[in-house]
Amino acid sequence: MQERLKELRKMAEAKIKSAHDLETLKELKIKFLGKKGELTSVLRGMGSLSPEERPVVGALANEIRNRLEELISSKEGELEEAKLEQKLKEETIDVTLPSVSFPMGAIHPLQAVIEELEDIFIGMGFEIAEGPEVETDKFNFEMLNFLKDHPARDMQDSFYITPEILLRTHTSSVQARTMLAKKGEVPVRIICPGKVYRRDSDDATHSHQFMQIEGLVVDRNISMSELKGVLFTFIKKIFGEDTEVRLRPSFFPFTEPSVEVDIYDPKKGWLEILGAGMVHPRVLEKSGYNPERYTGFAFGAGIERIAMLKYGIDDIRHFYNNDLRFLRQFQSE
Ligand code: DAH
Repeated sequence: MQERLKELRKMAEAKIKSAHDLETLKELKIKFLGKKGELTSVLRGMGSLSPEERPVVGALANEIRNRLEELISSKEGELEEAKLEQKLKEETIDVTLPSVSFPMGAIHPLQAVIEELEDIFIGMGFEIAEGPEVETDKFNFEMLNFLKDHPARDMQDSFYITPEILLRTHTSSVQARTMLAKKGEVPVRIICPGKVYRRDSDDATHSHQFMQIEGLVVDRNISMSELKGVLFTFIKKIFGEDTEVRLRPSFFPFTEPSVEVDIYDPKKGWLEILGAGMVHPRVLEKSGYNPERYTGFAFGAGIERIAMLKYGIDDIRHFYNNDLRFLRQFQSE
């Protein structure tokens, strides 16, 4: 039996030493040392040995087991190291190679201005309202005190879908919608940025589609001075603290009195940037607010115009042509 054990040791040692991978080594471990392995099967014959022989064979078997375990574990270490080495070799990265580029979009300048305006007005307690771009004559004109024969109601000036439905010509159409939704409650304090449409031949300063921002405040004791305060605050935040602003008397059917607001440009002189005024009593009344009790102001500004003055853009068509050379200039904004 001792012979068989020694034989087994020799064979196992040779095989373990020549194992080339961890898989084979694992198999050898099971083959020689496992519960059903060869060493166990030799030892099963121990019962037939004499009592003197048993401890000798037992000690030899233990020694072989220890020796083989040791061999296996050192071989395991060796193979693992080799495997790691191999992996590192295969996965070597050339850090000098150019990397993959991830193209980054930029916020469109119009969107950037809208977001800036929204932040400013939210800071002054305004909420953001919305209304449909396909609008009824009622909200676009009638509720805003436009007479039936007002030129803006002409088919030539607006995009009509039916005699009663058109693409809204201004964001002022959200005024009545907002007030009706509020059902006579105050305060009404909203802005509404959005697209508007007019029949126009497109050129550097005209576009058949553009964006406006509307503002509306209705409450008790709202006066022209609050309108002035709100407008001056937002204009100075957008164009700079030192911007000179002036109000000029004007006319809109839905405000009384009405003003136009200009800012001063050292090179171009006074430039109109928005229309505003105190909400006409008839407009309040039509939307369910008693003009004896409530007053309000409204304003409307062209967003492209603000963006053009702010960024020195000379042609409104740049906003819609999607020329990447134009848009990329706003990448870091
Ligand atoms: N809706 C006007 C336009 O399209 C702009 C405007 C003027 C809006 C005066 C207002 C306002 O709310 O009070 O030109």
